[in-house]
Amino acid sequence: MIPMTANELRKKFIDFFVERGHVQISGASVIPENDPTVLFTTAGMHPLVPYLLGQEHPSGKRLTDYQKCIRTGDIDSVGDPHHLTCFEMLGNWSLGDYFKKEMIPWSFEFLTKVLEIPVEKLSVTVFAGEDGIPRDTESAELWHSMGIPYDRIFFLPREDNWWGPAGETGPCGPDSEMFIDTGRPACGPDCKPGCKCGKYFEVWNDVFMQYRKTADGQFVEMDRKCIDTGMGIERTIAILQGKKSVYDTEVMQPILAKIAELSGIKYGDSEKTDVSMRIVADHIRTSTFILGDQRGCTPSNVGQGYILRRLIRRAVRNGKHLGIEGAFLAKVAQVVIDLYGEPYPELLENKEKVFDELTQEEVKFSETLEKGEKQFDKMVFFLDKQGVKEISGGSAFKLYDTYGFPIELTKELAAEKGFTVDEKGFEEAFAKHQELSRTAEAGQFKSGLGDHSEQTTALHTATHMLQAALRRVLGDHVQQKGSNITPERLRFDFTHGEKMTPEQIKEVEDIVNEEIKKDLKVTVQTMSPEEALKEGAMAFFSSKYGEQVTVYSIGDFSKEVCAGPHVEHTGDMGHFHILKEESSSAGVRRIKAVLER
Ligand code: ALA
Repeated sequence: MIPMTANELRKKFIDFFVERGHVQISGASVIPENDPTVLFTTAGMHPLVPYLLGQEHPSGKRLTDYQKCIRTGDIDSVGDPHHLTCFEMLGNWSLGDYFKKEMIPWSFEFLTKVLEIPVEKLSVTVFAGEDGIPRDTESAELWHSMGIPYDRIFFLPREDNWWGPAGETGPCGPDSEMFIDTGRPACGPDCKPGCKCGKYFEVWNDVFMQYRKTADGQFVEMDRKCIDTGMGIERTIAILQGKKSVYDTEVMQPILAKIAELSGIKYGDSEKTDVSMRIVADHIRTSTFILGDQRGCTPSNVGQGYILRRLIRRAVRNGKHLGIEGAFLAKVAQVVIDLYGEPYPELLENKEKVFDELTQEEVKFSETLEKGEKQFDKMVFFLDKQGVKEISGGSAFKLYDTYGFPIELTKELAAEKGFTVDEKGFEEAFAKHQELSRTAEAGQFKSGLGDHSEQTTALHTATHMLQAALRRVLGDHVQQKGSNITPERLRFDFTHGEKMTPEQIKEVEDIVNEEIKKDLKVTVQTMSPEEALKEGAMAFFSSKYGEQVTVYSIGDFSKEVCAGPHVEHTGDMGHFHILKEESSSAGVRRIKAVLER
C-alpha cells in the first residue's frame, strides 16, 4: 500500500478518471440547493441528483470530483477515534453511460495498481437480492474474473448492500463495497466485511443507480442506469498510512497540535483529554466548512444554523474542559483554513466571516456557559436529594432559553451525572415559547429530494426574477448569498446594507409581477463560465476547472448560471408576493416570498 496524503489521493483519483474520459467538475456547497429534505450535502452524488434522474449535465456523461460532505447523524459519537462530522468524498459518475462491466475493473485497477493494495487483502460485498430485486451475480462474476476468490465475495442483504436515496426520495440502487482486511483477528466465526468489529475496513462503494424511490415509497426502475461511487478521503489515507485513527493523519494532526499549544495538554496524555481535543478539532473543522462555504449560513436556532450552533457551543465547552482561556476558536479555524484553502478556495475568501462568526458565537455562549453549568449543578443536586433522576422539560427549556444550552448539551451534561431529560416536555415548552418551533421546522422535511414539483419549479424561477428586480431597484451590489425553496415559499438572502422601505418592496413585487404577466420564455444554453460572464449572466459559483455550465434566461429580464429546473414560460406562475424582509446577518437581508395562485 502506498502511504498517500490527502492531497496525493485526491489527485490520483481524479487523474485516474480523467484519463478514462471523465470531466472533473467542481464540488458543490455543503448546503444543498433546492433540496429541503436534508440539511447538508452528505455524499458526492447529492448535488448530482437531477442528473442521475435524467437531466443532461453540461459537462457530459462521465464526471468526477471531490466533495466536502457533512453528516451530523452522530455528532454525539464524535470524540471517539473514528467519527468525523465533515469529510471529503471522492467520486465518479456515469450518467447513463458505462455500467458494471467497466466500473468494477476500474475499481480493481485503482485499488491494486494505483493504491497498490495487495489483492489478498481485498474482499468485496454484493447485493444478495431482496423484495423482487435480483441477486447481483453479475458483479460477483466480474470481481471473480479480476482475481478475487469466491470466498472473499460476500452476498449481503439490502441492509448492507443498498445505497440511497440521499434524502427521502431520489435515485438509489444495489451497491458493491470494497474492504481491506486490517489483519486484526476476527471477532467470531461470523465476522465478515460489514462487521463493525474493525477487522474489515470499507474503502470504496460502487452504487448501481437503477431505481428511483418515489414520495409514496415505491422503487421505480429507471430507464437509464447510472454509476455513483464514493471513497472517503480521511478514512482511506488513514488505512493507507497504517494509522489507527483518522485523527492521526496529516489532515487532523496540525489541528490537534494547535489545541495542544492552546491548552498546554499533549494529545495522547489521557483518554479524557483526548476526547475533548478530538471534539474541538472535529467541530471547529466542520464549523469552518459551514461558515466558509459558498452558501454558508450563520449560527441560529433553526436548520443548518442550529447544527452549527451546537457544534460551536460543544467545542467551546470542551475547550473549557481543557483549560483553554479566552476566545480560541478562530485560532483553531486558522489552522483548518491553512490546511484546506487550496482545494477549497472559498474558505480563503470567507476567512474573515469565519473568524467573526465563530468569535461572536463563542463570546456570546462563554458569558452564559459558566452560569448555566452552575444552575445545572444546582438542579441536579436538588433532584438527586428527592430521588428524582430526570430533568423536567421546563428546566431543560430554562437552560436553553436563559443560558443558550442546546437540548443536546443538557442531555450530555445529564448523562455525565446519570440523569435523563424529559425531551418531550422540552419540546412542548419550546413549542409554546417559540414562534418557529422545531416541530414546524421538521415540516420542511416533508417534500422529496430533488423535489421538482410545479410549485418548487415556479418558485425557483421566481427567485431568479426576484434577484433581477432587486438589482434594478436597489443596485448592482445585490448578490445572492443563499436560497432555500420549499413547496410553500422561497427564501432568498442577498447582500444589502439596510432595511428595504415598504416602497422598495412594493416596487420589487410590481416588477416581478409585470414580468410574469409578459409570459416570458425561459431558455437554457450550455457554455463555458467565461462566456457566461461575458454574456452578463449572474453567477455565484466557484468553477475551478473551466467546465461547462448551464445558463437560464428569462426573456431579457434575467440571466443566471444555474442547474435548473425552471418553468418554460412565466405566464402561469401566479402572483408574486413578498411576505417578509428582514436581516439575516451583517450586511445580508432575507426575503421570504410566495406565489399566489
Ligand atoms: N453515494 C455513495 C456513498 O455515499 C457512493 O457511499
